[in-house]
Amino acid sequence: MIDLTPRKLLLLDHYADGDEARHFSLRIDKPLAGDLAVIPGQFFMLAVPGFGEAPFTYLSLPDQQGHFNALVRRMGALTQALFEQPMGAVLGYRGPFGKGWPLFFCARQVLVVAGGCGLVPLAGVIEEASRHRLPVHLSVVYGARNRAAQVLGRERGRWRQSLRFIETCDEAEPPQRQGSPLDHFDELFAAEPPEAVLCCGPEALMLATAEACLQRGVAADKIWLSLERRMHCADGLCGHCYLGTSYVCKDGPTYRYDRYLHFQAGGYRTFIAQDQRLC
Ligand SMILES: Cc1cc2nc3c(=O)[nH]c(=O)nc-3n(C[C@H](O)[C@H](O)[C@H](O)COP(=O)(O)OP(=O)(O)OC[C@H]3O[C@@H](n4cnc5c(N)ncnc54)[C@H](O)[C@@H]3O)c2cc1C
Ligand code: FES
Repeated sequence: MIDLTPRKLLLLDHYADGDEARHFSLRIDKPLAGDLAVIPGQFFMLAVPGFGEAPFTYLSLPDQQGHFNALVRRMGALTQALFEQPMGAVLGYRGPFGKGWPLFFCARQVLVVAGGCGLVPLAGVIEEASRHRLPVHLSVVYGARNRAAQVLGRERGRWRQSLRFIETCDEAEPPQRQGSPLDHFDELFAAEPPEAVLCCGPEALMLATAEACLQRGVAADKIWLSLERRMHCADGLCGHCYLGTSYVCKDGPTYRYDRYLHFQAGGYRTFIAQDQRLC
């Protein structure tokens, strides 16, 4: 039976991380075995008493004591209330949900494209690659509106030391690079043509990235996106998160681009025999 009752989640600490975003340190009270089996790209439901629940991505994965981090952007009532919670506040937790990024790489050269807070769901993959725990060569291009809108300042500082990490802003200040991530594709593809692409950000950026990569010869089944939809149950019950016949909360939020197109066109859900292999 599906249990929709949130469990206790403790707010341990938080700090400002970019314009209108905060980095939260959280702990699941009495973590269960399933709480520790999280894959980068999966998400959890966070409840703020009196304000309901919303989905957020794991920025770091829960450790044995249930500690993990999240990055939250202020949007509306729930996130505003979360920003006002004191240290030690008791929140609600359900998770993990959805499918994560493919982590069994046969591709050697992988390009990560992130826009705005879309860097958060990709952080686990970038962290693993930066610590040489994935058998891939990863390049990252991260776009934001301007410097104030960039998130994960501390993490980016670390990743720049060990990965090719390009940062670009729509409203750049020298010496920043100017433009969207796509403006740097010619350079990236000339230096290290990717065999596979992982992308997360505004849907318009993800679709433009997928099309630009297809034109440059990356196959649709080697391009992965992470979708954002309104969610309520997060467990395939309520239908708030439909992508065609697919439930983003269960089948996604990560989708191979060919499968995204299939569902977008109204294709059947039985097509979803999607494994998390990037071969
Ligand atoms: C799988 C998944 C992972 C997510 N991970 C993160 C994360 O790591 N960090 C983070 O800051 N946010 C994340 N989000 C988005 C987050 O859930 C919303 O910002 C949050 O629900 C806003 O709640 P609110 O009550 O503060 O704002 P609301 O009042 O509910 O919304 C404010 C505005 O944002 C829009 N909006 C809210 N939720 C969504 C949504 N899911 N899709 C599209 N538009 C929406 C509303 O239409 C409205 O215009 C994620 C969403 C999904 C589906
Ligand atoms: S959120 Fe209810 S079915 Fe996906």
